[in-house]
Formats: sequence, C-alpha cells, structure tokens
Amino acid sequence: MAILVTGGAGYIGSHTCVELLEAGEKIVLLDNFSNSKPDVVRRIKELTGKDFPVYAVDLLYEPSLRRVFTEQRIDSVIHFAGLKAVGESVRIPLDYYHNNITGMLLLCKAMATVGCKRLVFSSSATVYGTNENVPFRENYPLSTTNPYGSTKLMIEKILRDVWVSDNDWSISLLRYFNPIGAHKSGQLGENPNGIPNNLLPYVAQVAAGRLPELNVYGNDYDTPDGTGVRDYLHVIDLAKGHLSALHYVRNYKGADAINLGTGKGYSVLQIVAAFEKACGKKIPYRIAPRRPGDIANCYADVTKAKEVLGWEAVRGIDEMCADSWNFTHLNPNGI
Ligand code: WQD
Repeated sequence: MAILVTGGAGYIGSHTCVELLEAGEKIVLLDNFSNSKPDVVRRIKELTGKDFPVYAVDLLYEPSLRRVFTEQRIDSVIHFAGLKAVGESVRIPLDYYHNNITGMLLLCKAMATVGCKRLVFSSSATVYGTNENVPFRENYPLSTTNPYGSTKLMIEKILRDVWVSDNDWSISLLRYFNPIGAHKSGQLGENPNGIPNNLLPYVAQVAAGRLPELNVYGNDYDTPDGTGVRDYLHVIDLAKGHLSALHYVRNYKGADAINLGTGKGYSVLQIVAAFEKACGKKIPYRIAPRRPGDIANCYADVTKAKEVLGWEAVRGIDEMCADSWNFTHLNPNGI
C-alpha cells in the first residue's frame, strides 16, 4: 500500500516526500506542475535513492484522477495540491474556488470509491482571520479575509461533514503557520514563480541580487519593533509533522484541526537581521505602507500538536535562514 502525495513536487510536498521515503514509506507523487518543476521529482529520487510512481495529473480531470486509484494501491492521502497566493486569490477568486474546492471534492470521491479514508489536509493559519489574542488555539473562532483562506476554511467544513456522514474517515486538518527554510542539501527549497509574495523568498532574492530591496509592509503595528510578527517554521519540521499526522490518521477516526508552528513569533526586522547573519550581507529595505489584510501578530499555540501527534518543531530561526540562503545560493535562478 502507498501514500498518495498530491502537489508532491511543491515546496512543502517535496520535503514531505523526502521524509516519507526516508521513513520507509511507499509514495505515489501526483502534481499538475502548474506551480512546480518536474526536476524536483528527479531531485527527490536522487536525494533518497528511492523510485516511485509519478502522475502528471490535474485533480480537476476526473478520469486521470480515478486512474491513479485503480492503478495504484493507495491507503492514505496527503493533500497539498492547490492554489495558494493570497493576493492572486483576490484577483481570480473563481479559479481559486474551482481549483481548490472542486479538486478536494473530486479527490474525496475518488478516495471513497476505493475505500481509502485516511487523509491529511494542508490547511493554514489564515483561517484564524483577524483574531488578535495570540497564541492561536485550534478552538478559536474562525474567519477569513481572502478567497484563498476561504477555500481552506470551506474545505475544513466539507471534510468535517464527510466524517459526520461516514465515521470510517480519519482526517487531520493541519494548520500551517509560516513555512520557510530548505532541505539541508540545498537541492530542495521554496521556488516561487515570478516575484515572491512571501517574506523569506523575497529577502533571499534581495540577498542574491535578483531584487533591489525589501519593502517592509508597515512599521506601525502593535509589536515590539512595529513590524509584523509571524510564527516561522522550518519546512523540514513541517514535513516531519506530516509523518506524525499520517501515523495519527492510521490509528484514529475523526476530523481534527491541529496547528503546526513553533509557538514563537518573529518580526520582519528580526527576520531581516537573522538572514543578514546567515548570508553575510546587508539586506537593503524601505518602510512601505501596510499590506491590506495583514494582521500584526500571528503565532501558534502548539500544545495540541505535542499532545496529539507527539510532534514539535526543533529547528530555530538561524537554521531556517541558513538553509534558505544555502538553497538560494546553490539555485540562484530557482529550480
Ligand atoms: C509575513 C510578514 C508581511 C512580504 C501568508 C499566507 C498564509 C501562508 C503563509 C499559505 C508579514 C511581511 C511580507 C514582503 C513584508 N501561506 N512582508 N514584505 O502573510 O503571514 O502568510 O503566507 O498557506 O496563508 O497568508 O506571510 O510571508 O507574506 O508575510 O514586509 O515583501 O512579512 O507584512 O508581516 P503571511 P508573508
């Protein structure tokens, strides 16, 4: 039996595939390569010395999706595939709802057809919306401020309804905070198309000379230095969290939300300082207006992940920045 990893050639998906393979699991990688490169698959195979089936399939094309489940023996699914840029989701909401929601519905139906009812879903801290009392706990009221976040919240509700309709399902809803960093080898890392939306890949490209300076979106927030505070999490710790969640869904029934974060918050300027230490260069920046939709503070209460998954993040901000810089340095033009 194998684990289907949808979006397995993506940033978090590829790091998770490496952890699964190194833990002795069999995987099937599915990706439509709309926001990832086929060479990532070669790198996963090279890093692990393992081979595995690869399907260049779009979840929205049902016949190909069903073929995966008839050709392969899938007993669990880790579902990363989806559109994930906040700003883009505001511009093209229908594409986001169709791709993310319909893709999830078709995946669940294909799974149910073969009796595969173990699912780890890639949710996001964005479902905590404009909550202000950090750290965020899983039982906090949920809301969203953009279509991307709304697709995550809607899918969480859909999956809970799936479990209510059939208690044979085991579903883990993992709410990621801010994944950054890269594989130690520098062969895998965050590889966004075009100008990065997120802080770390943007800072890394400034350090690499591909962008002139960082725009710090606001320094008048209610935080120690006025810049936004987030819970940055090493992508390897996050990938290992998926392995723990997989073991969890193999032994429990239900649909359960769990935060994956460090429980610590760092400001934009603290990240800039950490990255300067990692790359040995100054990162030029200017203070720019706040970005619409941003909140001041966002970091996780990580009690539940420790209790339920036996998982906690162990890598610190210096290691995250060093690994991110190593990847950027070795892949100056991305993968
Ligand atoms: C972090 C901080 C910005 C860029 C988003 C999604 C979330 C998740 C992670 C998918 C904020 C500041 C950023 C820049 C800046 N994605 N910043 N200049 O917004 O916390 O979360 O990515 O699941 O769902 O919402 O991450 O990296 O964009 O911003 O000053 O050029 O860096 O204001 O304070 P965010 P981010």
